[in-house]
Amino acid sequence: MRIGIFGAGGMAEALGGQWSGAGHEVMVAARDRAKAEKISTRVGTWAETARASDAILLAISAPSVTEVVAAAGNLAGRILIDCTNAVGPGAVLTIPDQAERIAAAAPGAHVVKAFNLCHVDVWRMTPPMFDGRPLAVPLCGPPEAVEVVSSLVRDIGCTPLNAGGLDRARLMEATMAFTVGLWFGGHDAQACFPPLPA
Ligand SMILES: NC(=O)c1ccc[n+]([C@@H]2O[C@H](COP(=O)([O-])OP(=O)(O)OC[C@H]3O[C@@H](n4cnc5c(N)ncnc54)[C@H](OP(=O)(O)O)[C@@H]3O)[C@@H](O)[C@H]2O)c1
Repeated sequence: MRIGIFGAGGMAEALGGQWSGAGHEVMVAARDRAKAEKISTRVGTWAETARASDAILLAISAPSVTEVVAAAGNLAGRILIDCTNAVGPGAVLTIPDQAERIAAAAPGAHVVKAFNLCHVDVWRMTPPMFDGRPLAVPLCGPPEAVEVVSSLVRDIGCTPLNAGGLDRARLMEATMAFTVGLWFGGHDAQACFPPLPA
């Protein structure tokens, strides 16, 4: 697949590296071109990268996303993978309904919320496995786009979970803030959830 990445920080490097390793074409756009070149030899402006990509990972700081998406031009038909977390001090959400805001800023694009629930170091694992189980990655968005992003989840050795439409992305965003609060409080968030048979 032709994958674009907006941003050249930790998440761009982690997931971009995984997808390059899986044989995908990865092109990176960032405001600092030198940082983008450390992730891929294929580098362009926001608009060039968007035109050359089927799916674009939005791996930039949460408050900047809608501005960058608007600068990328016409994104109709593109899949936008929103991994952003607008979580501020005290583990509160600083921007409500982030994924839906991105969808409103990119008419005709298909936004899928994914990859926001785990720390960047988890996305560097090959594959991310815990207690012998592959990491499950929930995705919220339109079904056909979720199906495409699900294949990218499988490519990094994880199990995709179709978690509903984009209207449910706000619940993933809130879950992230809640879970960060638990982790920062020294609690094991995973211990809160019983296995399915229970
Ligand atoms: N780190 C994690 O564990 C983690 C996990 C899940 C999700 N996320 C989310 O993933 C996104 C990226 O996280 P990260 O860890 O990769 O962050 P990061 O290492 O700090 O990188 C952030 C990227 O955003 C760019 N950026 C910041 N403000 C910008 C602006 N106004 N215009 C254009 N680009 C801008 C930065 O550019 P410069 O380098 O030029 O500053 C950099 O390329 C964030 O939304 C974060 O909430 C992070």
